[in-house]
Amino acid sequence: MHVKIVAADPLTIPTPALVVGCFEDGPEGQLLSRLDTALAGVISTLYRQKEFTGKRLKVKLLHTLGRLPAQRIVLVGLGKRRELDGERIRQAAGAVAQALRGAGVASSVTVLHCAAESAGMAIQEVVEGSLLGGYAFLQYRTEPKEQVDPEELTLVLAKKSEVKQAERVCREVEAVCAAACHARDMVGHPGNVATPTFLAEQASTMAARYGIRCTVLDREGIEREGMGGLLAVGAGSVQSPRFIVLEYRGGPESMRPVALVGKGVTFDSGGISLKPREGMERMKDDMAGAAAVIATLQAVAALALPVNVVGLVPAAENMPDGRAYKPGDIVKTMAGKTIEINNTDAEGRMILCDALHYASTFKPAAIIDLATLTGACLVALGTQATGLMGTDDGLKRALKKAGERTGERLWELPLWEEYGEAMKSDVADMKNAGGPHAGTITAAWFLKQFVGKAKWAHLDIAGTAWEEKGKHYLPKGATGVGVRLLVDYLRGLG
Ligand code: BES
Ligand code: MN
Ligand code: ZN
Repeated sequence: MHVKIVAADPLTIPTPALVVGCFEDGPEGQLLSRLDTALAGVISTLYRQKEFTGKRLKVKLLHTLGRLPAQRIVLVGLGKRRELDGERIRQAAGAVAQALRGAGVASSVTVLHCAAESAGMAIQEVVEGSLLGGYAFLQYRTEPKEQVDPEELTLVLAKKSEVKQAERVCREVEAVCAAACHARDMVGHPGNVATPTFLAEQASTMAARYGIRCTVLDREGIEREGMGGLLAVGAGSVQSPRFIVLEYRGGPESMRPVALVGKGVTFDSGGISLKPREGMERMKDDMAGAAAVIATLQAVAALALPVNVVGLVPAAENMPDGRAYKPGDIVKTMAGKTIEINNTDAEGRMILCDALHYASTFKPAAIIDLATLTGACLVALGTQATGLMGTDDGLKRALKKAGERTGERLWELPLWEEYGEAMKSDVADMKNAGGPHAGTITAAWFLKQFVGKAKWAHLDIAGTAWEEKGKHYLPKGATGVGVRLLVDYLRGLG
């Protein structure tokens, strides 16, 4: 979609749809009253009849029937004025984008940002909400769709002097949202398309396009590195595993890199510890961490951020097979530690442990991993927050702040040493799965054994990687979670 910024009187612009934010407090404000007058009082009537009252995320399309240059007025509820924040504006813009897609309106003009006290601050959120909310994954539909892709969005400003700055913000948001939507695409692809090889191709194509380094290890390369965990998980699949290394250098040579690690299980059947059949199809999204890492490097390169970032993706398919790893097996990891397998469905940590150890060899300033790691995280936090655990308070604090700013919220769980009791093995250094309690934490405890002295944060995105019903700026399907969060965090470092 093309996003434009203009300075004009919004009421004079011919467009299929003019989008206006409305508060629950009443149809106040100069613009709304001018619109109301032009439309013979329809807006105040809607409020009076309680048909549209500015309730959050409610969207109302009104035809102007020639009374205005705009064909339609789109009212979107913002809730109470004093509760307004960036996330509400982002959500409102997303709800509008979904409504316009459904109504077959491809082009619109918006003044939604004017609802904020300083319009300059809300431009980012309006563009984000519109680009993310207007997304749909329809690549596999061969029949004509009853919706249209958004083509053009115009933000109207009052002052010409503000246009340049707004355009700069807009170009940056476009780069980040393009990356987030690339992540969504990768996750949306089914397991028969999105294989470890596919992820490696996505990474190397992206890297070539944005001028960053990409190295891909195949099965032999992974063997040479001694990545026993990744090999074990990939052993049961005809799709051979891959280990992807992306290196972006935007900061000074002396600056230690941030290492991003993403779980890339392209399909998680559970392996020999097979999952129940209900809902197993969702396990195509078990590479959402990998997609977020690849896409974050894309965004960081597009924005030319003055930082150094390494992206690491262990990619494998977890399948039952004669060659598959099995309960009771003892696996030697790249770090040299041995793992007794008691559940082949706890495969994410088996590939991440090698990637985390590999990450530690870069002497990174920080390691951040993203993984759809545990069903227990979905149970604990639902879809509202990503689980956060780690070893460094400063890093966790910075990530939480990025979460508040981007709407990709994090909630911390404890990572006390005592949780390790559950992972004790009689025959190896540790087991790969704990008991029924605190599954999200015991998984993180396992990962912690492989990060060495590095400052490390673990993001369990099992609850936030996939949106079941579709809401505001998160249409049904993959959310692209992590990309905006990490870009925001990395921006703060440069
Ligand atoms: N990929 C799953 C976690 C998951 C489950 C993500 C549901 C999203 C929705 C992971 O590999 C897994 O199977 N974890 C097990 C761990 C257990 C065997 C210790 C789980 O959560 O049951
Ligand atoms: Mn699993
Ligand atoms: Zn998994």
